[in-house]
Amino acid sequence: MSSMEAQLLRHAMLWAREAGTLMKKMLDDELHIEQKKNDSDLVTQADRRCEELLRNRLAQVYPGHWILGEEMDGGIDSYTAFKQRGGGYGWIIDPIDGTTNYIHRIPHFAVSIGIVKDGQPVAGVVYNPLTDELFHAVKGGGAYLNDARIQVSQKERRLSEAVLATGFYAGDWHEESEALPQIKRFVGSCRNLRMNGAASLDLCWVACGRLTGFWHRGLHPWDAAAGSLIVTEAGGRVTDRFGAAFHLAMDSLVATNGWTHDEITSIFLMDVEESYVVWRDKEEKAFKS
Ligand code: IPD
Ligand code: CA
Ligand code: CA
Ligand code: CA
Repeated sequence: MSSMEAQLLRHAMLWAREAGTLMKKMLDDELHIEQKKNDSDLVTQADRRCEELLRNRLAQVYPGHWILGEEMDGGIDSYTAFKQRGGGYGWIIDPIDGTTNYIHRIPHFAVSIGIVKDGQPVAGVVYNPLTDELFHAVKGGGAYLNDARIQVSQKERRLSEAVLATGFYAGDWHEESEALPQIKRFVGSCRNLRMNGAASLDLCWVACGRLTGFWHRGLHPWDAAAGSLIVTEAGGRVTDRFGAAFHLAMDSLVATNGWTHDEITSIFLMDVEESYVVWRDKEEKAFKS
């Protein structure tokens, strides 16, 4: 690890603990809940305060680094965000990942801080203030939970043994949701499914072997910037849903212990094959008539 990256990591860990302590303390206050898109897409003053805290620290210490944060940059499309920001060091922050859990006092949420250099993740920190679990990784340096090195699970080697997690993105929470047919494919074929409500922690749980894998559509860079690096540094695999190299601006993510990866991505490829067959049959019919 370069001395620059060691310093970035130290700051990210310090500030994640600071933001975590603040969100924990604010649970005692009355929450001001605002709707973003609908009743299932919410923000509170705690999300905003934690993002402000992180942005202030960053502006003081690293004024030349760019920032991408959910509550102040939320409307932006991911590809545009990366293009506009360009190279150099950037900090991608989710002040509270798991806002719905936070609002409902479900003790499962975290602050997520990913650091990228020229678009590639170099360090990541995810901190759950209620369990006091701090996950971190630096590119090439392994992944850690507090002070202990972590590794993805070596036990589950087949999909039938896998415990997987997923979630719905805000715009996909409706009857025609594209997540539903995907979930249906896994019911019965994996050991079981979980929907824990904080993508950054799902990724960390894959990294430390609690979960075998995690998939999600429509994540934003702040959901995955830290966690995706933590998974790969823990020996896991992260790709898009078809098994192609993953980038933070992508629309889909599959993270696994590696052993079960191909079986999982092949399920998503089945979707593509099926829609191709439907399209081909339609074309053939149209041609014959
Ligand atoms: C959400 C959580 C959730 C995932 C959603 C995300 P937020 O983030 O990570 O697990 O399913 O897609 O938007 O809004 O609580 O930061
Ligand atoms: Ca949100
Ligand atoms: Ca999030
Ligand atoms: Ca958030």
